[in-house]
Amino acid sequence: MSEPATSAPRVDLLRGLIEGTTDPAEAEQSLREIQAELAAFRLEYSCGMEEVATKINILRQEFEQTQDFGPIEHVKTRLKSMDSLVDKMRRIDCPPDLDAVRERIRDIAGIRVTCAFVEDTYRVAEMLTRQPDLTVLETKDYIATPKANGYQSLHLIVEVPVFLSDRSINVPVELQIRTIAMDFWASVEHRIYYKYDGAVPDDLQQALLTVASTASDLDGQMGRLRDEIQSLATSE
Ligand code: GTP
Ligand code: MG
Repeated sequence: MSEPATSAPRVDLLRGLIEGTTDPAEAEQSLREIQAELAAFRLEYSCGMEEVATKINILRQEFEQTQDFGPIEHVKTRLKSMDSLVDKMRRIDCPPDLDAVRERIRDIAGIRVTCAFVEDTYRVAEMLTRQPDLTVLETKDYIATPKANGYQSLHLIVEVPVFLSDRSINVPVELQIRTIAMDFWASVEHRIYYKYDGAVPDDLQQALLTVASTASDLDGQMGRLRDEIQSLATSE
């Protein structure tokens, strides 16, 4: 992807502003333009995220009315912060061009869905991905194949159309679907990972693997319990 003609002068402009060599009126105008462009960019993702979140909330409301065990426990949305976005751009060597960012970074809009049971994670994924306006761009099933550290979750990148006043755009949204036990594990692991800046000591890594296996056992037992309750209910 080629560098946009505007990015280099903008960097110069910001540098000039810091060094006091840029005309303040010109700088103000350019800063406003950059701010508006970034706000429009973020809006695309927040709208895409809202579209998919609405779909999930519709399923959730429907299940609340019709089932004792609805598959969706909790839904959390997040838009990647500018800080994390810039970190990721640096990490993957992405040029400072919004089109390149659009193409290469597909977790700017993120939704985490927590389910009580493992089976429900796949049900929710299935119910969403069969909707005709969603396109699945990528699936990573870390439930069937957990990561080496024990991480489990079902990851999907889906693309959703967003209709703006004068055009429509396709927005990628990252979905992480996991059980409460997997989510509990991931949140603790995340804190430990950050505390040690990624270099988690061996004994803690081992402890995390053991807990991941306990969490997985718990998920298995809970699933069997639900199956029993459901078979009782149908035989009544
Ligand atoms: P990122 O560049 O970090 O987004 O990773 P990726 O593009 O390789 O995608 P992947 O599907 O592996 O991970 C996406 C997201 O899942 C991460 O940003 C985390 O939110 C979550 N995740 C993945 N691996 C782990 C893990 O080992 N521990 C925890 N706590 N979360 C994880
Ligand atoms: Mg990510």
